[in-house]
Amino acid sequence: MENDCLKKNDAVLPETADDDVEKRKKKPPKAHRKKHIKDEKKLNAGWSIAILALTAVLSSTGLVFFMSGSGQHVVSIVGAVMALLMAFVTFGCYLMLRHREVASSMRKMLFISAMLIIIEVLTPVTMSVNIGFAPPLLAVLMIAIMVSEETAMVACLPLSVTAGVYANAVYWAGTDPLAISVGIAVSSVMAVFALSMRKTRSSTVIASSIAGIAGVLSYAFVMMAGGEIFNTYVLNLVWLMGSCLLCGILTVGLMPIFEAAFDIASEARLNELLNNDNPLLKRLINEAPGTYHHSMLVASLGDAAAQAVGANALLVRVSAFYHDVGKLRCPSCFKENQKGTNMHDELDPYESAKRIIAHQADGAAMLEKAKFPRDVIRIVGRHHGDSVMVYFYDKAKKQAGGEYEVDESLFRYPSVKPNTKEGAILMLADCCEAAVRSMNTTDMTEISNKIKEVITHKWDKRDSMLWDSPLTFAEIKRIEKSFCDTFDALNHERVEYPDLEEINVR
Ligand SMILES: [Fe+2]
Ligand SMILES: [Fe+2]
Repeated sequence: MENDCLKKNDAVLPETADDDVEKRKKKPPKAHRKKHIKDEKKLNAGWSIAILALTAVLSSTGLVFFMSGSGQHVVSIVGAVMALLMAFVTFGCYLMLRHREVASSMRKMLFISAMLIIIEVLTPVTMSVNIGFAPPLLAVLMIAIMVSEETAMVACLPLSVTAGVYANAVYWAGTDPLAISVGIAVSSVMAVFALSMRKTRSSTVIASSIAGIAGVLSYAFVMMAGGEIFNTYVLNLVWLMGSCLLCGILTVGLMPIFEAAFDIASEARLNELLNNDNPLLKRLINEAPGTYHHSMLVASLGDAAAQAVGANALLVRVSAFYHDVGKLRCPSCFKENQKGTNMHDELDPYESAKRIIAHQADGAAMLEKAKFPRDVIRIVGRHHGDSVMVYFYDKAKKQAGGEYEVDESLFRYPSVKPNTKEGAILMLADCCEAAVRSMNTTDMTEISNKIKEVITHKWDKRDSMLWDSPLTFAEIKRIEKSFCDTFDALNHERVEYPDLEEINVR
């Protein structure tokens, strides 16, 4: 098996190491220099504002075009455009101040912008059929599923303003524009609430039904407040309910297209990756059972810790499932998959480090080939950051015995530190799981002390692996406590089984 593994790796890891110590001191083996997966381009505040401003300008242009075409007075047009711009400014301020991670993601900003423009273009077309035939819920559902619920709630502001303006332009009826704006705003918020429980395909349709009922009731109440007779707007209510349901169905149908186009990891897509039918997970179970077991434990630790600090627990869980998938290149290189013999006893520390270090970049490359979401690949490609493989570095130093300098870079992972909460949580969960497992104890005091030691080491200046992550001290403390609680739960006491022979059970 080991020979096979070595052969397989030769294809992946170029032959570099021999016993020539001098050579190693001058030039690092190529496998160590494998590049980590490229990061997403981060937007600075100026670019985010520019994308939003362009969206607002395009939406306003459509509004002006439609209103001037339907013979509206210039004052009405100016008022409508200003109202729409105010809504966009509010949305922009919210993103910049409260959701910086969304505002700094080019994919997410372009996706939000595309959804807003599509709906702004569709609204006058559909509403010319009936005032209740309004599509904004489509964008709200899409943004809630693929970006964030909070962003979707605020994104409904410019959309409901536009719908109200178009309702006014189509009907000129006193309370209709207000009723439709309120109906759309309420239905959007209710849809997001309903979706926050669960984000599967069926729950998206259920959320759109709840949104339809809420929208219809709000619309009817505002019309009642305006003294309108039920008969005059009952048809609008039917259209409004129907359009909400249609938006739910369209969201389910169009989501895979937008997910692929913008490479955004929605909850539905992440949930699919947790299925044991995934070929990579199946391979882990069959070829590297020890790694599979380790990954499941890391997922439990990471999931609970992410929930404790308000990070994306599902993203951490999925990343944990696949974080060591690169070990499939050579399962027996890793302690958790070894039975009896340890192949590293026969390898020199340089070669051992080369083979182990490769699993980080190999895993990211395998996930990229399997078309995994970029957020998952980025976390997996950094799960050891640029840390030093201390065990083999120390072995190499002992082997050198002070006769020559050991090049530390040969024992360092060729990547960068995690820069998201999710990535940092996965790194800590991975290190803590491995460290606690190596202790072979269930004593919680010893386990707590080990967790504290590992996290302190990752934070302090010797390792500094948490320095690029946005985790605060308070959050790191909560993560530490969460790990202790999870280990405590995992190490539950077992009832000792009686000897069946003794009690003579048939
Ligand atoms: Fe790893
Ligand atoms: Fe791991």
